[in-house]
Amino acid sequence: MNLRNRFAEAVRKVLEKYGEEVAGYATLVRPASEERFGDYQVNCAMPLAKLLRKNPRAIAQEIVEQADFAPLAEDVSVAGPGFINLRLSDAWLSDYLRTLLADDRLGVEPTTQPATYVIDFSSPNVAKPMHVGHLRSTIIGDALARMLRFFGHKVIRDNHIGDWGTQFGMIIYGYKHFLDQQAWQRDPVAELARLYQLVNRMAAPAEWEEELSKAERLRHGDNPEQKRTARQIIVELAQRAGLVTAGEQVSDEQLDELLRELWRRVEEAKPVAEAARQETARLHQGDPENRKLWETFMPHCLRELEKIYRRLDVHFDYTLGESFYQPMLQEVVEELLAKGIATVSEGAVCVFFAEGEPPCIIRKSDGAYTYATTDLATIKYRVEQFAPDYILYVVDYRQSLHFKQVFEVARRWGYDRVCFEHIAFGTVLGKDRRPFRTREGGTVGLEALLDEAVRRARAIVDESSPHLSEEERRQIAEAVGIGALKYADLSQNRTSDYVFSWEKMLAMQGNTGAYLQYAYARIRSIFRKGEVDPERLRSSPPRILLSTSPERRLALLLVRLPEVLQQAVDDYMPHYLTNYLYELAETFSTFYNTCDVLRAESDELRVSRLALCYLTAQTLKLGLGLLGIRTPERM
Ligand code: ARG
Repeated sequence: MNLRNRFAEAVRKVLEKYGEEVAGYATLVRPASEERFGDYQVNCAMPLAKLLRKNPRAIAQEIVEQADFAPLAEDVSVAGPGFINLRLSDAWLSDYLRTLLADDRLGVEPTTQPATYVIDFSSPNVAKPMHVGHLRSTIIGDALARMLRFFGHKVIRDNHIGDWGTQFGMIIYGYKHFLDQQAWQRDPVAELARLYQLVNRMAAPAEWEEELSKAERLRHGDNPEQKRTARQIIVELAQRAGLVTAGEQVSDEQLDELLRELWRRVEEAKPVAEAARQETARLHQGDPENRKLWETFMPHCLRELEKIYRRLDVHFDYTLGESFYQPMLQEVVEELLAKGIATVSEGAVCVFFAEGEPPCIIRKSDGAYTYATTDLATIKYRVEQFAPDYILYVVDYRQSLHFKQVFEVARRWGYDRVCFEHIAFGTVLGKDRRPFRTREGGTVGLEALLDEAVRRARAIVDESSPHLSEEERRQIAEAVGIGALKYADLSQNRTSDYVFSWEKMLAMQGNTGAYLQYAYARIRSIFRKGEVDPERLRSSPPRILLSTSPERRLALLLVRLPEVLQQAVDDYMPHYLTNYLYELAETFSTFYNTCDVLRAESDELRVSRLALCYLTAQTLKLGLGLLGIRTPERM
């Protein structure tokens, strides 16, 4: 049962007579901010005072007198200028917890309004190393999918991979000119990665022209500030070119030399960049040779991705990448033109928005379709195939403008009954607070990152549990390492950037995955030590005693799972759940340190406390499971 909703419903019934607007305020029910205010508080009287032109205390009084909070809360009072404090009835709480013992859903009721969600997540660009941004999307998207499904929604997981981009031009160019036959036979994925990196490195300086010109300009002025900026640009590019190492001192004479060398590189890179661009263009035009190469590369790229997903225990219903939508793009543009939604402007096809806002280009003047065109075709396809109520895009916040535009075009196009949501997230930063890179320029892939997490977890497990078998320790380390990585990500408010830190991530104390997994394993060990079969608690649930405040506090948290989960899915915020689980583990810890469990004074108290232990373990397991994190029985 969702207690917050239950209370809000009771308040709503009282307010309904004042009309829908007023009744809407009934949702202002919160867990009490402080214990002395009771367990829940209803905060709508003050904001309603203005609307109803009444004294807030009088409104609060009216709610207290008329709302039916029984049998959940008996003690209901008005406090201060118009707060309403609710205290849960101990008898009710104890009975309710008892029913949870045999309830696999721990009180979380399936939704009464099941909807269909398409979740577009992970969506890496294949054939180049997946980066941590895609890891973030993968982890957050998977958690949302699990939570929504748990509520009984229909969830379609679609991996919208970038399998049609310019990286293929580079690989095709590399394949045609620099292929190492033997390496390709031995390990095609590694060879493709090498070719991509090689050509990318060769072609990259072609993009520096603008920056170099700017540096050149600023350097010859007499503004010292601008001179410094010029120096920064040059040093930064020289670093990228491998001409100087980070932190190296660069003299003014050297700066001239570097500049000359950088210009040389730009000139050298231009023909490579152009050739790669042409290979991409040929692929897109249907050139048979390039098409065949693309078809040769794709299965290897997909297999590589699949390895990572399997380790993360993330699965998709569909992997329909950009290439899949190519045959539909022309029609999309024609339809939008015919309906007058798009117009031709300077040779390009655009959709315009309000004055001053950039237009959405759906066909460039050279005839090329864009990322937006593909996303529009994807929407049409998804609506026709899956009839979704919601389409969620779990993508980096830097693509906000793109999605804002695409959603708006889609609505004008007639897809206005689907709810589009960009589930944006911040950047993963390194210790230096700059975008996190997996070692120098991303040459170490995501797999190495997972290995590192597991390796570090293994060191912890070896130390804490030397008595376990090799195989057991291996499995635990995998669960703890991958769990740590996921939890670190999910426990952040997704909209903010977060700093990647191995030490924090794998700490055994604090708000970490390892701490929660450990809390779970510790409870399981209580049952092993006491030789208690938790099944007994399920088949004949004992009476639950809440005589001390640590017990009652734990009980109060245990009944909050449904409301926390509901909010996490309503706002698409997995960190509501991690915060809750962390608070639960901490509260349990206080309970366990103050209340004897196995050596409780009476048998009745012993089983009651064991029941609280059991419910805590089950809540941790269910909660972490919904985040895609496993809970080993021992640690
Ligand atoms: N492949 C894109 C990228 O790496 C993300 C795709 C997100 N999904 C979408 N439908 N646009 O930036």
